Amino acid sequence: MWAGRFQKALDKKADDFNSSIRFDCRMYAQDIKGSMAHAEMLAKQGILSQTDVDAIIDGLEGILQDIESGKLQFDPNAEDIHMFIEGELTKRIGDAGKRLHTARSRNDQVALDIRLYLRDKAEEIVGLIENLILVIADKAEEAVDVIAPAYTHLQRAQPISFGHQLMAYAMMLLRDVGRIHDAVKRMNVSPLGSCALAGTTYNTDRAFVAKKLGFSGVTKNSIDGVSDRDFCVELTSAFAILMMHLSRFSEEIILWSSWEFKFVELDDAYTTGSSIMPQKKNSDMAELVRGKTGRVYGDLTALLTMLKGLPLAYNKDMQEDKEATFDALDTVVMCLEVFTPMIATMKICAGNMYKAAQKGFINATDLADYLAKKGMPFRAAYKIVGQIVAECIEKGYVLDDYPLSEYKKHSELFEEDLYKEIALETCVEKRNSEGGASPKSVREQILYVRGTIRG
Ligand code: ARG
Repeated sequence: MWAGRFQKALDKKADDFNSSIRFDCRMYAQDIKGSMAHAEMLAKQGILSQTDVDAIIDGLEGILQDIESGKLQFDPNAEDIHMFIEGELTKRIGDAGKRLHTARSRNDQVALDIRLYLRDKAEEIVGLIENLILVIADKAEEAVDVIAPAYTHLQRAQPISFGHQLMAYAMMLLRDVGRIHDAVKRMNVSPLGSCALAGTTYNTDRAFVAKKLGFSGVTKNSIDGVSDRDFCVELTSAFAILMMHLSRFSEEIILWSSWEFKFVELDDAYTTGSSIMPQKKNSDMAELVRGKTGRVYGDLTALLTMLKGLPLAYNKDMQEDKEATFDALDTVVMCLEVFTPMIATMKICAGNMYKAAQKGFINATDLADYLAKKGMPFRAAYKIVGQIVAECIEKGYVLDDYPLSEYKKHSELFEEDLYKEIALETCVEKRNSEGGASPKSVREQILYVRGTIRG
């Protein structure tokens, strides 16, 4: 390809080192689509003859079909997917193939291909996330009336509907979808026509190509068009945040599945046994999702580090953008494909959650609120309840069975109705503030989430 300037072929190891075909071959369809649009533009502008462009389009269509049918294999010796397809085209149609690269460089070509590829993949991932959100909403619906302890500092804090805990994740994932959409929106401009870095002397029509490829516009600076990869960083960062959410969810599932909690039971299809301990049922899938989160963070760090010292415009370092971004993308897809059915088939052990909610004085806030609603300043009520909790612990009671006579020693405001007020059911039912933990609020959240996704 460099014939002319060079007298010697590239050293074999250097050649392999330089080649990106083993990972950029996945962009073959986008490369072909981009070339077709480019060729049509060249014909429309009178830069190439219609005859040449017809041959180019025909040739590219044939290559696409042959790759898809498996008839044409990628040549591992090719430098990259762009060179491979152009070379194959020239093999098939001769000189016209050599004309395709007029008013174009691999620099704007690769910037175009990645955008096209990521745009498609991002949509696929959005679909997977939305599917997970809907599965979570279904689980939450199942758990609307299940009372569970909620935690702060991993200490029992307040009773909630278990559906509320699940819906917290649905909200996070909904924002992840928003972040991916935002990234795609910014990514969706065509860099083609930036050429090597400075644009071209040919009378091209960049807007025509952009429109054909479904972009909302073109990049406004040719150096920026070929140099930047912030769209890879942005999308991978959205993936990193998504993985962070899945990882936190995984951590809870791992805890909840343990004998110490037994709040949920994962389906056999999503757990593994031990090679030595017959009693084991391990939540490997959730652990792997948690583990793979580090990998996606690594991809994000690789991208940021790769770009931070690069002078404008294109540098070969930038070839590293693809492996990192693709790895993040593949990891996210893999995780979602396992995570969603794992949640869908997860059994909720309502009885164990209720038992756990009964211990640990998680209705203490409600007891303080009881006094405050009768006129005592909240801080004073808080202090009294603290003393009562200490007494109960010492004497082996919980708030629900501590005698009224004992309560009365702390305040005359205590009446028989306190027991109803601090019953777990009441505590949860009454957390009716907007976005609160009551079944009513959870039902509203489910409706909101379903409405947002299904429109
Ligand atoms: N394989 C290259 C990459 O992925 C394509 C661009 C090559 N451009 C160049 N000037 N060498 O970045």
